[in-house]
Amino acid sequence: MTTTRKIAFITGAGKGIGLETARGLGNKGVHVVLGVRKQAQGEAALQTLRSEGISADLLIFELSKAEDQQKAFDFLNERFGRLDILVNNAGIFLESESTSKPVTTTAATLDMDTLRSLFEVNFFSTVSLTQKLLPLIEKSTAGRIVNLSSIKASLALNATPGSLVYDVKAFGYDASKTALNAFTIQLAYALRNTPIKVNAVHPGWVRSAMGGPAADMDEKEGSETSVYYSLIDENGPSGGFYFKDEVLPW
Ligand SMILES: NC(=O)c1ccc[n+]([C@@H]2O[C@H](COP(=O)([O-])OP(=O)(O)OC[C@H]3O[C@@H](n4cnc5c(N)ncnc54)[C@H](OP(=O)(O)O)[C@@H]3O)[C@@H](O)[C@H]2O)c1
Repeated sequence: MTTTRKIAFITGAGKGIGLETARGLGNKGVHVVLGVRKQAQGEAALQTLRSEGISADLLIFELSKAEDQQKAFDFLNERFGRLDILVNNAGIFLESESTSKPVTTTAATLDMDTLRSLFEVNFFSTVSLTQKLLPLIEKSTAGRIVNLSSIKASLALNATPGSLVYDVKAFGYDASKTALNAFTIQLAYALRNTPIKVNAVHPGWVRSAMGGPAADMDEKEGSETSVYYSLIDENGPSGGFYFKDEVLPW
């Protein structure tokens, strides 16, 4: 299929910030491919977006499965021959039910299984998907990669008494997103002589399943930073860490 629309692949697009990011991009004329691991959730999301006039496809996609990463490459390659926008949105928080609930483990006590699980999804699988899809992003005239990080990834803020995150640490989640920030910086450097732009974004504290009911932003507002950095033009930044237009400290 040849299309003049930009093509975006959004992981974890069945609910939360990912679904709103798909809606936001779709409303701006982007063809959105929803990566969703649960069939029923994916079909409901696809049907809703299409009923709103958004051009969309569904790919049943579990981020941590190598075969699903290959399936994503094959689908995008066969349908479009390129990828313009990759939103690495899928992520997990395991240290409490949601970030609205207190975390009782610390860097002194967190068990290795939980730490490894967090890194598997939030870091290793995200890096490996990005590397897998990079040949397709290189075929775009203006490839964009948006990594959903978190303000909790900021080493500078974690080390600063009185900062927003100083007293709400979740070691495994925070460290997995710090690693994702390192990937963002290094991938942007590796691609510095190409048109591809790679940025890390903090969506805000969002009332999704992960953010929980105490969070201060709705999912639509939480998608705005992802949508914005997916659509930056050739003068936009690469290798940065942002919440809306605010530069966050690494
Ligand atoms: N909410 C916040 O306040 C906040 C703040 C900072 C950063 N973030 C980041 O923003 C991103 C989106 O979070 P959210 O708040 O929308 O959370 P959410 O409502 O929990 O949604 C997470 C999405 O990721 C998917 N996912 C998780 N593991 C996956 C896997 N292995 N394979 C495929 N999909 C997977 C989930 O699918 P299922 O429905 O199948 O579980 C879900 O669609 C995350 O990376 C998160 O770390 C969120």
